[in-house]
Amino acid sequence: MSPGRGVASARGYAADPRRAIELHRLPGRERVIRFRLMATSHQDPGLLADGVARFIPPDVDSAALPRSFALAAPAAVRGPIPDAWRVAPLFERSGDTYRAAIPIDPGTSLYGTGEVAGPLVRNGFVTEAWATQPFRLEGDGTPVPNYDERSRSLYQAHPWVLAVRADGSAFGALADTTYRLEIDLRDGIRLSSAEPFPVIVMEGNSPQSVIARLAQLTGCIELPPRWTLGYHQCRFSYYPDARVRELACEFREREMPCDAIWIDIHYMDAYKVFTFDPEGFPDPTATNDYLHDLGFRSVWILDPAVKAEAGYTAYEDGVAEGHFLVDAEGREHHEWTWPGDAAFPDFTRPETRAWWGRRTRAFLDHGMDGVWVDLNEPSPILPHGAELPGDLRHGGGGDIAPGTHAQYHNDYGLLMSKATHEAMSRKRPDRRPFVLTRSTYLGGQRYAATWTGDNVSDWTHLYWSVPMVLNLGLSGQPYSGPDIGGFAGTPSPELFARWIGVGAFLPFCRTHNSLKGDQEPWSFGPAVEEISKTALARRYRLLPYLYTLFREAATTGLPVARPLFFADPSDPALRNEDQAFLLGGDVLVQPALLEHEQHDFPTLPGDWRAFTLAGEDPATDPAHPVLRLRPGAILPIGPGGQTTDQAFEGPLTLIVALDEEGKAEGRLYEDAGDGFGYREGDYLLTTYEATLQDGDVVVRVAHQEGQRKPVYREVHVEVL
Ligand code: NOJ
Repeated sequence: MSPGRGVASARGYAADPRRAIELHRLPGRERVIRFRLMATSHQDPGLLADGVARFIPPDVDSAALPRSFALAAPAAVRGPIPDAWRVAPLFERSGDTYRAAIPIDPGTSLYGTGEVAGPLVRNGFVTEAWATQPFRLEGDGTPVPNYDERSRSLYQAHPWVLAVRADGSAFGALADTTYRLEIDLRDGIRLSSAEPFPVIVMEGNSPQSVIARLAQLTGCIELPPRWTLGYHQCRFSYYPDARVRELACEFREREMPCDAIWIDIHYMDAYKVFTFDPEGFPDPTATNDYLHDLGFRSVWILDPAVKAEAGYTAYEDGVAEGHFLVDAEGREHHEWTWPGDAAFPDFTRPETRAWWGRRTRAFLDHGMDGVWVDLNEPSPILPHGAELPGDLRHGGGGDIAPGTHAQYHNDYGLLMSKATHEAMSRKRPDRRPFVLTRSTYLGGQRYAATWTGDNVSDWTHLYWSVPMVLNLGLSGQPYSGPDIGGFAGTPSPELFARWIGVGAFLPFCRTHNSLKGDQEPWSFGPAVEEISKTALARRYRLLPYLYTLFREAATTGLPVARPLFFADPSDPALRNEDQAFLLGGDVLVQPALLEHEQHDFPTLPGDWRAFTLAGEDPATDPAHPVLRLRPGAILPIGPGGQTTDQAFEGPLTLIVALDEEGKAEGRLYEDAGDGFGYREGDYLLTTYEATLQDGDVVVRVAHQEGQRKPVYREVHVEVL
């Protein structure tokens, strides 16, 4: 056995406990060698796919383990684990706690664990996979988000850790349980739960290959409708409908790029889901028509809790058909939510998902383009910090067994997303669904994009925005972003400018704020309005490249926003960089996220040259991140515009950064922007190549995949 490695081989473990030797170098101390007697054991191990092995704790009836919610499809064992397998969990049970320990080699950096606040590198942190709404009440009763780097859990649950070894090879550990799971990364990887759980280990020669394996198992995002890549404007809430119309006009008058306006809960009649306020939103169809005429899409919110009120049909049908969660005695359970006393749909039941689907389809009759599902941890509003009791009963059905809320709490957001996603697909089979969810579970990317939940308008939350999005990307969810400007509080002009400056380069780009203070891009005066316009102009020019990255995410699972260490996983200097990030493989984004300090960005191999997109000057305006192009890359960009539709029309520009050999290559994905024609070949994936020949740069189409007719358009080439 080699020192520092937990288990040299997965073979021969069953008979004898083995000794593991761990080498630790503690800061300022001698090297410490620890011997530990490890009662290693697991049963029924097997290879699920190349580089993917599942380990099951001893004395656990594997047939009785609950079905996996993380895996996109049940995985069968294909054969034995190879002799050379490097990582096996050490299972142990003490009292009522089941543990799995995975020692790590010195120099191993840990990532993932889903939605977590704080730095990108997770070594030293203890978190929980347990969907939580973390908030406190201010003196006047206003709820405000309340978390910091040491908080154990946020809105989503990802029982998943990515480990990158010193040599750049990597593995991932997936605890395949939906029960509350502690993830302790203070000394290797230590997972514990009150219920037994299998661990799926994925090996790869790079972090990228492990993420690709994770996506093969847990699924990729669906290619989103192209308009969702634009800028979104949201508020809690734009009210009444006249305010929505006014806002839409103001965007167009000011020529501020925007694709979607979001409608938060005040559109409902007394916060009752699937209703409309007769005063403020008497005619939602007309509101949507108005937005559509101005080239906007609309996204409307749905909350899971259904007000317990006689005469309210959603509630009465739900009661009659048995759709709500009940306690151990079979009594319907209520909690205090926005509309008051409310019942919670049991999304584990296929009949309940169908019922939710029917109601959502009727809701979509009004012309909403997307649905935002919220509070689905699930969260009562009062008392503060409340969650549903663990002993509530879920009925299940189909391949979901009946169980307690302790078992299904973490799945609530995923199942609500699934039901909503199915409703959108059934309602409009020719359009791509768009669902945004606050809570979800590992694998939830199959049904919905996500945002990072309620944040605060301060510099720390701005800084967290980037590592949060990166770690979500390293946990299977490439489509996420923060509330730009912060949800609670009002940002200073400088803070908003910085936030929209960097938010323009994150996968999901939406400003959102709570009841107090205006947060439109023009609310902070003409200087910030101009900065916002430029920030969004940069995003809209970059859209052809971004869309190509989304297509990559939808086919390989690779994140859209990637950590710097993807450029060289064996370079320790890149491991903990959480301000700069990569968009795809080719664009380096260097934002200024700190209020008072300058950040020294690590350098990437080669000469990554700076380029501009919309006349910006990051040297004089720190709101605009410096953008750099990988040597050897060709970046396809468009003309920009007020909407994504415009941004994909007109001339194409190829920005070329030749490598040392005078060569470059880049790809562009194009399709109809919506619908599913691309699945039948109605797309074009073009590979461009550039070479330096006798002092000229010659660019040509090297390869084209797909049957979509090429458009005739001007192509400009800019050589950096
Ligand atoms: C909580 C969500 O996190 C927030 O974004 C939303 O505005 C409010 N609920 C009101 O719906």
